[in-house]
Amino acid sequence: MSTLIVPAPLDPHVHLRDLAWAHKGTFASETAAALAGGYWAVLDMPNTPPPTIDPAALETKLAALTAGAVCDWGVYFGASQDDNTACYPQVAGRVCGLKMYNNATTGTLLLADQPTREAHFRAWPAGRVIAVHAEDQTVADILALVRRYRKHTHFCHISMAEEIALLRAAKAEGLPVSVGVTPHHLFLTERDVITLGALGRMKPELKTAADQAALWDALADGTVDVVESDHAPHTLAEKENDPPPSGVPGLETTVPLLLTAVREGRLSLERAIALVATNPRRIFGLQAPPETYTEIDPDVSYVIARQALFTACGWSPFEGMRVWGRVRRVVVRGQTAFEDGQVRVAPGFGRNLFAEGV
Ligand code: DOR
Ligand code: ZN
Repeated sequence: MSTLIVPAPLDPHVHLRDLAWAHKGTFASETAAALAGGYWAVLDMPNTPPPTIDPAALETKLAALTAGAVCDWGVYFGASQDDNTACYPQVAGRVCGLKMYNNATTGTLLLADQPTREAHFRAWPAGRVIAVHAEDQTVADILALVRRYRKHTHFCHISMAEEIALLRAAKAEGLPVSVGVTPHHLFLTERDVITLGALGRMKPELKTAADQAALWDALADGTVDVVESDHAPHTLAEKENDPPPSGVPGLETTVPLLLTAVREGRLSLERAIALVATNPRRIFGLQAPPETYTEIDPDVSYVIARQALFTACGWSPFEGMRVWGRVRRVVVRGQTAFEDGQVRVAPGFGRNLFAEGV
């Protein structure tokens, strides 16, 4: 049987939970899900209570991740509507980037007006990425700030044809932007909400088949740089609430879904590897550590089932789908971290990729 080797896959967009939301998932459980999904490392978002918007909250999160993580990791700092820019010089060296929520999301972080967004763009030190949640008209608003400040800006989970058109033009103009899309926007549409119900609800919401087609075109032509899971576990009980919380898990299904697209001729293998490994590493200025790679059996197929998942939430919007490509082994810095369905390292094995002085 052939083995596919992918060097150091990195998911730059996950919500690991823990802290006040440990009932949804812990740093140990969700980084185990990352290894099971084939990832070397993940970058964690700041919208979990307490939000990562001040040095104390950052210290708390760094300490808990240091103790609990089984894969390598970095964390984002969050931009706050109540001005928190004064601490940026002090924190920027210890995080992977700044996350700016410009449209409503899970939790309390939202930058509601353009002058506030501009203050964050001005204050954030160049050299660390700005990642933005921007939908629809807000994409254009953020592009105006990129044009003014020329700081590298990563557009997370882009989901609409119009947004893709704006970003394709921004790249042609030479603006320092990168683009991420999620597996749920690539493999599901608004029609799937009929059957998935709350399990198909996330932000940005699922879109039309035409939007989905635009994302696939943009994958092929290089407009999209990254496929990011936006792994956002909520418990099944919470998903039964009205309204349900937004978000779906994705760490364990992203790589197999992409390899299935490769097998079906919808994507080249080279592009798939660029989207989950080479490009995310480049955008965040990371080198693959020596002897860090994932072994995948590309000729094994299986049906996605909740019983097999490591994520604490225990469900997936892709349940029942047959995928090709089983993660067999994840080697991190020469050590087997995951093999044949089992995590082989202890909590605390994972390293902070953005520790100062590293
Ligand atoms: O669906 C989402 N869930 N979108 C986000 O932007 C946040 C995430 C979460 O944290 O649950
Ligand atoms: Zn997210």
